[in-house]
Amino acid sequence: MRGRTLTAALVLAVATALTVPITPSASASAPSRTVTPAPLAAPDIAVANVQAHLTQFQAIAQQNGGHRRAGSAGYTASVAYVKGRLQAAGYTVTEQVCTSCVYRSNNLIAEWPAGPTDQVVMFGAHLDGVSSGPGINDNASGSAVLLENALVLAQQRPTMTKRVRFAWWTDEEQGLNGSEFYVRSLSAAQRGYVKGYYNFDMVGSTNAGYFINRITSTTAAPLKAYWDSLGLQPEENREGQGRSDDYPFQQAGIPTSGYAAGASARKTSTQAAKWGGTSGASYDPCYHRSCDTTSNVSATVLNRNADGIAYAIWQLAVSGGTSVPASSTT
Ligand code: TRP
Ligand code: ZN
Repeated sequence: MRGRTLTAALVLAVATALTVPITPSASASAPSRTVTPAPLAAPDIAVANVQAHLTQFQAIAQQNGGHRRAGSAGYTASVAYVKGRLQAAGYTVTEQVCTSCVYRSNNLIAEWPAGPTDQVVMFGAHLDGVSSGPGINDNASGSAVLLENALVLAQQRPTMTKRVRFAWWTDEEQGLNGSEFYVRSLSAAQRGYVKGYYNFDMVGSTNAGYFINRITSTTAAPLKAYWDSLGLQPEENREGQGRSDDYPFQQAGIPTSGYAAGASARKTSTQAAKWGGTSGASYDPCYHRSCDTTSNVSATVLNRNADGIAYAIWQLAVSGGTSVPASSTT
C-alpha cells in the first residue's frame, strides 16, 4: 500500500518537469501543443502480500523446530518457498552452495532477465534467522519485501535500463558468511558490473526508526527521496554499520545502501518526537528472541520499506522511471 502523498507529489513533479511546450515557428502549420509524456510511476507494493510471505515463514519455522537457522530444515524450507514463488513468476533461480559458511547451506540468486548484463543493481536480504525463534523481523521482513518486489517486477515487465538481481543470503547470523562467499565468488569483471548493492535487514520493527545506510551517498538517493516524500526524516543507519550483508560488498568497493528499522538499540526522545513510538525502548523489543513472530512487525513500517524499494527499482533500472534528464549520470 502506498501513502497518499507520493503518487500525487512525485508524479506531478515529474510531469511538470517533462512538460515540453513545442512552439511552432512562424511558417509552421502545425498547431501549438504541449507534449507531456506519461511518467512511469513505481508500482504500489501490496503490504498484505508481504505479510502473507511472513505468515509462510512463520509456519515454516513452526513445522521445523521453531526456527530458520542456516543449515537447518527451517532454512532449507525457506529457500524452497522463495525459489518456488520466483520460478512460478518466470525467474531462473540459482542456488549457490556456501562452502565457507559455518552451517553449509545455500544463497539464492534471481536475476530479472532484461536490461544490460554488464549494468547490474542488486537487492539483498539475509534469509537465515537465529535458533531462538522464527526470525520474522530479523529477517523474514527483508526477505519478504524483496520477494514481493521481485514478483511485481515480473508481473509488470517494464522496459529495463539496468539488470536487477535479487539475493537471499544464508549464514548472516554467523558472520555475514553467505554474502561474503558470493562477493568472493565473482570475478573482477563481474564485481565491476554491480553498480550498487542495496541491503534490507529488519524492516518491520514495531518501535521503528527510519534508517538508511550511507544516507548522503548518491547510491542512497532514491531510497531517501521516497522516505523524504513521506516526510519521514530518515537518519544514518549507525546501529547496523558493518553488521549486515552490505559490508562484504562495501569492502569489495561496490557502492552500497539500504533501509533498516532498527534492532536492539534504543529510540531517543528526539526520534520518538519525529517518528512516534517509545523513547528509551529498543526499536525491536524481540531482537533475536522467541517473540520475533508475525506480531513483532509493524504493517505501516513494512509498507513504507516495500514501496521505497519499488520506487528505487523504478528510478534506477526502469526506462522512463527517472525524474532527471536522461543525459544525467547521477
Ligand atoms: N540484523 C542483523 C543481525 O542479525 C544485524 C543488525 C544489528 C542490524 N543491528 C542492526 C541490521 C540494525 C540493521 C539495523 O543480527
Ligand atoms: Zn539481521
